[in-house]
Amino acid sequence: EDQIAHVADLPKVELHLHLEGAAPPALIRGIAAEKHVDLSGVFRPDGGYAFSDFVHFLSVYEAATGVLKTPADYARLTRAVLEESAANGVVYSETFLSPDFCGGGDLSAWRDYLAAIRETAEAAERDMGVTLRGVVTCIRHFGPDKARAAARCAAETAGDWLVGFGMGGDENRGEQKDFAYAFDMAREAGLGLTTHAGEWRGPAEVRAAIDVLGVSRVGHGVRAVEDPALVEELAERGIALEVCPGSNVALGVYRKLSAHPIETLRGKGVKVSVSTDDPPFFHTTMKDEYRNLARTFGWDADVLRELNRTALDTAFCDAATRTRIA
Ligand code: ADE
Ligand code: ZN
Repeated sequence: EDQIAHVADLPKVELHLHLEGAAPPALIRGIAAEKHVDLSGVFRPDGGYAFSDFVHFLSVYEAATGVLKTPADYARLTRAVLEESAANGVVYSETFLSPDFCGGGDLSAWRDYLAAIRETAEAAERDMGVTLRGVVTCIRHFGPDKARAAARCAAETAGDWLVGFGMGGDENRGEQKDFAYAFDMAREAGLGLTTHAGEWRGPAEVRAAIDVLGVSRVGHGVRAVEDPALVEELAERGIALEVCPGSNVALGVYRKLSAHPIETLRGKGVKVSVSTDDPPFFHTTMKDEYRNLARTFGWDADVLRELNRTALDTAFCDAATRTRIA
């Protein structure tokens, strides 16, 4: 147990965190009360987020996010999320930001939201020592036109703070290739690229992510394990997987952590790192993730330090930031 407590206390690098998905339920309830927004159906009687499956999760996520209507709301959200990250020993957090929720894809509105998020994050860094970098994320089930608007927002604000572009949302809607234009725009702006794939659909989706969109990282990507040739290719090409074990178990991708392929993927030489995805939805934290991996797979501090190093190696931030965090 001492060993387990020790691994939970390691400094951690997280690469896959949705800002709205990290919203503490109490914050969402509080803002809803202030604005007199009815959120019935969003919360369970015990105060947690209520959802029954992945598609329902997405709609509850969007309903909760709907109470956040101004840059000031996003500043409050950012502070609350980074307090939680810092409390869990996170020193670097690459966080998904969505122009679709922050101004609806309008560039000028997006700039205002981004400024509020960034200023709050920089204050939190001074206060608590956790560094945030932004990854703009389009939402697959909102369609390619919205994705293009999100990519334009990303391209126009790309730099040393806004470092990447990605896609989340319902993997069962549309095809990766429908979003190639958006990803091309982001690539031309110098952004790092990632997309959710291989969470709900199989290995072909992961292949499309790397071959059609040209991403260097894949969100989840775990179902690549069903195709040994693909696993070998991921290892050879150094494609990194942002693995979120607690999320996968909470949403039923795998029945339990011991059935999760993270150990197999790592054993075959694939670059894997560990993240929480949407911690309050899935009742997890970065400490919980590390603790549970240590318990289930017998991973010691050396293994978990290696996952962290991989996370930092595959982060989209500049070399100076990487060096400062390491
Ligand atoms: N958005 C937030 N969490 C997500 C997940 N696990 N998969 C796809 N889209 C998401
Ligand atoms: Zn995700």
